[in-house]
Amino acid sequence: MTSSDDALTTLPVSLGERSYPIHIGPGLLGDPQWLAPHLAGRQVMVVTNDRVAPLYLEALKQGLSDDLDVREVILPDGEATKSLASVERIWDALLAAGFNRRCTLIALGGGVIGDMAGYAAASYQRGVAFIQVPTTLLAQVDSSVGGKTGVNHPRGKNMIGAFWQPRAVLIDTETLTTLPPRELSAGLAEVIKYGLIRDSDFLAWLEASMAMLRGLDTATLTLAIERSCRLKAEIVAEDETEQNVRALLNLGHTFGHAIETHQGYGQWLHGEAVGAGMLMASELSHRLGWLDASDVARVRHLLEAADLPLAAPGDMRAEDFLALMRLDKKNLDDRLRLILLRRLGDACVHEATPPEMLVRLLEEFPRA
Ligand code: NAD
Ligand code: GLY
Repeated sequence: MTSSDDALTTLPVSLGERSYPIHIGPGLLGDPQWLAPHLAGRQVMVVTNDRVAPLYLEALKQGLSDDLDVREVILPDGEATKSLASVERIWDALLAAGFNRRCTLIALGGGVIGDMAGYAAASYQRGVAFIQVPTTLLAQVDSSVGGKTGVNHPRGKNMIGAFWQPRAVLIDTETLTTLPPRELSAGLAEVIKYGLIRDSDFLAWLEASMAMLRGLDTATLTLAIERSCRLKAEIVAEDETEQNVRALLNLGHTFGHAIETHQGYGQWLHGEAVGAGMLMASELSHRLGWLDASDVARVRHLLEAADLPLAAPGDMRAEDFLALMRLDKKNLDDRLRLILLRRLGDACVHEATPPEMLVRLLEEFPRA
């Protein structure tokens, strides 16, 4: 795989009048040329958390000119804070600052911050501008692109939310240098997802490149981010509100969301749960006669190379999975809709999995 020679790549997300750029490159944070064109007015609220703020808040602010009214909300770190109560803190800060409909929210952090800040922007005064500045691999390759915003409900992941597109996505690849290895692996799960659902060449490239990716090789990581963002942008442009093809981005998520909800938000990382979920979906696809055993072995090896879990939580019974999977947003008219693989690189929405086959898989899948 090759990239442009320039250090910076810009990819479009083509959504008519709501189209926006994804800028990818090292050291973008703090360079005024990237944020300024996308600000709606003079009022700027940076939303971040107490882990990312000490690392990157000052650098971000250097990219905002002195004549702007810049405020900040610093939320506690963690998936457990992805709640309506946190969004209320953002609304409170906006109101206390007297911010109007021409304000701009900037989400600085991982997917938790991006989803919450996006939802606050979608709902404040019926919708204001926001910019995504993702700082985890997962957020850079997935959650910052495509406008899904929202929070968790104690009964289900991401159950409250809205589609609200950012004005721009600014990916500073240097932020990955401070990311803990476990978080890097969680992001790699979503990168692997793109190969599995839509791009078998990319999958083969990932198999060959996993050691470089885990070693934080900048050029290799940048290629993976670019290819992932390109694939996501294509899918979002085709189906912004998930009426059809966008559902494929949920490979592994029906199983994964069940794990996250059952374990309590934050115990398993989202990407870890998706990784185990993708292996479950691959195994089910094999039982349906679509994937060969060797295909499932390839998926297992790649997840293992990315240091992702290959087993479900030990305390989760098949009935726990089923109860939570029934709540999945993809289900229509009480039918369980799963994203499965017809081949590696070719996913589909499947509504006709025989219930007894699913139950057996859930019973037999390895437990940690
Ligand atoms: P996260 O936001 O919790 O970030 C992971 C951890 O890394 C946090 O502790 C964070 O503070 C820290 N961190 C962030 N950037 C860092 C950096 N550069 N250096 C050091 N530490 C850093 O988790 P995540 O994996 O980024 O995102 C997961 C969330 O994204 C989940 O809530 C999931 O539901 C959501 N998601 C949303 C979409 C979407 O389309 N909107 C897609 C996928 C996932
Ligand atoms: N991560 C799923 C989506 O954006 O649709």
